[in-house]
Formats: sequence, structure tokens, C-alpha cells
Amino acid sequence: MTTGKQWSSQSAIDYYAQHRHEVADLYPSETVFLPRILFPGAKVLDVGCASGGFFNIMRSYEPAVEYTGIDLSATAVEMARARYPEATFVLNEGFTLPFEDNTFDLVHCTSVFNNEPNYQAILKEMYRVSNRFALADIRLLKGIGNQLSTTYNIQFEADGIEDTVPYVVNDADDVVNFILQLDPKPKALRGTGYFHTVAKEAETTDSEICMTILLLEKGNATGGQTVVDLGDLPIEFSAIQS
Ligand SMILES: C[S@@+](CC[C@H](N)C(=O)[O-])C[C@H]1O[C@@H](n2cnc3c(N)ncnc32)[C@H](O)[C@@H]1O
Repeated sequence: MTTGKQWSSQSAIDYYAQHRHEVADLYPSETVFLPRILFPGAKVLDVGCASGGFFNIMRSYEPAVEYTGIDLSATAVEMARARYPEATFVLNEGFTLPFEDNTFDLVHCTSVFNNEPNYQAILKEMYRVSNRFALADIRLLKGIGNQLSTTYNIQFEADGIEDTVPYVVNDADDVVNFILQLDPKPKALRGTGYFHTVAKEAETTDSEICMTILLLEKGNATGGQTVVDLGDLPIEFSAIQS
């Protein structure tokens, strides 16, 4: 598991204070779903919020969002509170979210699952506290079995590695099957993304990985089939609906 210490170095805190806080900082795949699912008054939870940059991004799309960010780094949470006193920030590790079921319209999580082997536990919690959408990025490859976990070197400055965390790539079908078995069954699962060169900080033999954004729409207890729309991804999925 990732710990608060790994993301609390001064350079990490400075990086997220200066980057990933404007719409222009987003990757193209991150601009596909987010602006379409925010609405006035939307209650949003952002898991792994660092210094709160996505609050600023989300309110650029929709000024009236009601934003809560959680992060496991106390230093990041402190910085986020100082930068954005109009939002709420909570120190939390994502595995047991301190919120009731169905609290948020959108639960968002970016750049966390690529360093977290147990993404399932966090995604399950995100889905539980959402009443409509869960939006997350994840690195995928086809046919790798379960999961590849190597090493990611945290390095924001030229002079040396500051810490290491896992670098995690998941099997495409495995992830889809996990999502299709969530309870209640999702109403829809949509995806977008593309193959991209692996970050130089990741120690892996794969040169390209499918950078994937998944949008889950929560279903209700009455069941029904999940609408699966993954056609925008350059991967052929063989997951079968249960
Ligand atoms: C790479 S940064 C990404 C920040 C932001 N979400 C973004 O996309 O720019 C990862 C952040 O997530 C936090 N984090 C990692 N694992 C976490 C977990 N299990 N629960 C809460 N925060 C986590 C780290 O402390 C760090 O601030």
C-alpha cells in the first residue's frame, strides 16, 4: 500500500501545487467524461486529491460544485485546506471512506490506481458512497492474467529518486469483470483512452500501456443489464456479462 510519507516530500507537494490544477493540465482522456457529468450543485468526492488541484479544475467546468477531497498525505491535506478554504479536505486512506452510502453525485480518482495494487477495495468504496457516477483512471493491458506490479520511482526533481511506490498495470478483462460484479450492478460502464509510452519513472518491460478512464454509472437494487460502452478503447474486451 502507498503511505502518506511517499507523497509528502516537499517536491511532491510543490509539484501538485503548481501542476494538475487547471483544465489545461489535463490529459486529453481526462477531458472526455468529466465536463459532461458535472452539474450545478453536484456533490463531488475526489480520492487522492493531493493539494486539491481538481477542485479548481472542476469548478472551471462547473462553478457550483460542492467538493470534498481525501488524501493519505497529511501534508497534502494541510496544503489543500490552505489553498482552497471553500472546499472540504479529509485525511483518509481510501479503503474505508468516512461517508454514508450514496452521499456523492460523483466520486473521482485519478493517478492513484496506477500505484495501488488493491484498486478493487478503493473502487468498491467509491462505488458505495456514490449515488450516480464513479470516474477513475487505470492502466490496462490485454491478456496479462491478473496484475503486473513493478516499481515506480517518485522523482520530481533531477537530483535523485525520492521514494518508490508500486507501478501497477491491470488485466483489461479482469477489471471489467470486477466492475460488472459490483453490487448493485452498474447501470453503465463506459471507457475512453489510448496506448501511450510508459512514464520513465516506471520500471517495467512494457513500452506502451493503455491509459484508460472508466466511468461507472451506479445501478439500483432492481438490477437490469449493464450498458457496456468500451468501443472507444483500443482493446478488445472479452468480458461476459453475468
Ligand atoms: C500522483 S498524485 C495524483 C494527484 C491528483 N489526483 C491528480 O490526478 O493530479 C497521487 C495522490 O494520491 C494520494 N494517494 C495515493 N494513494 C491513496 C489512497 N489509497 N488514499 C488516499 N490518497 C491516496 C497521494 O498521497 C497523492 O497525493
